Amino acid sequence: MVSFKSSTQTIPETACVPRHVAIIMDGNGRWAQKRFLPRFAGHSRGVETVREAVRYCLSRKIGYLTLFAFSSENWRRSTEEVSLLMQLFSRALMQEVSKLKNNGVRLRIVGDLSRFDSELQALIRASEQKTEHNDKLTLTIAANYGGRWDIVQAVNRMAVERPEKQGEWAEEDLAPYLAMNYAPEPDLFIRTGGEERVSNFLLWQLAYTEFYFTDTLWPEFDFAAFDQAIVSYQKRERRFGRTSEQLAADKDEAAGDVDCSAGAKINA
Ligand code: IPE
Ligand code: IPE
Ligand code: MG
Repeated sequence: MVSFKSSTQTIPETACVPRHVAIIMDGNGRWAQKRFLPRFAGHSRGVETVREAVRYCLSRKIGYLTLFAFSSENWRRSTEEVSLLMQLFSRALMQEVSKLKNNGVRLRIVGDLSRFDSELQALIRASEQKTEHNDKLTLTIAANYGGRWDIVQAVNRMAVERPEKQGEWAEEDLAPYLAMNYAPEPDLFIRTGGEERVSNFLLWQLAYTEFYFTDTLWPEFDFAAFDQAIVSYQKRERRFGRTSEQLAADKDEAAGDVDCSAGAKINA
């Protein structure tokens, strides 16, 4: 497995186009309520936005897209909404996987899958297997995912497999056990729907991620809205603990800020 550099251990290389975008897709319920529709209509519409976001990433050559679909706290919703969300998830997997396969997208699901019924678990495994040889875009769906769950499951597995290092475990010992060990840390985090919180998403992995919040509701987050997020990202100075002056000096050594000189600058 390729292992990616940790932003706290070494200064990662950054590029004009983020390598990895992680999104909290929020606002489906409000989108529906504004139209006097049931909340579920918003979730259903949200699946269309997922398709659009995948097309966007393929066209902009973003290598990793991670979408928060169901949090470990979303079980607190009504049993009706939870069960409709599970059905929607299964249906989307069945309908979309061949298209993903044909478009070079590798699908991965992260989260505590043990709480899903066995049919859904089998469907998840089969969907991942069908696309496992693709490498244009890795699409990760976080389902029954929680950032705290992720860290705790990683600690438990590390403790079992590396008992000899107890008392001396370091960041790099834990990192390989995290659910998204196959991806670089997100460069850009987007949350739609107006709330400005992390809601137990990728707590460990967001250490040096740039944050972007928008009032746009997920069902309305189109190509142009995604472009705006990237434009905002391209204006950021990613210092990773250094000063601006140090950053400018380091730029020549290719470990600098978001460098858009080589093209791919988005004008919106
Ligand atoms: C996000 O939309 C999707 C899930 C959490 C499953 P919401 O359902 O949270 O929509 P709002 O926040 O109520 O508008
Ligand atoms: C976060 O959205 C989880 C997902 C989008 C899957 P929520 O709508 O559940 O978050 P809170 O409860 O408002 O923080
Ligand atoms: Mg919400």
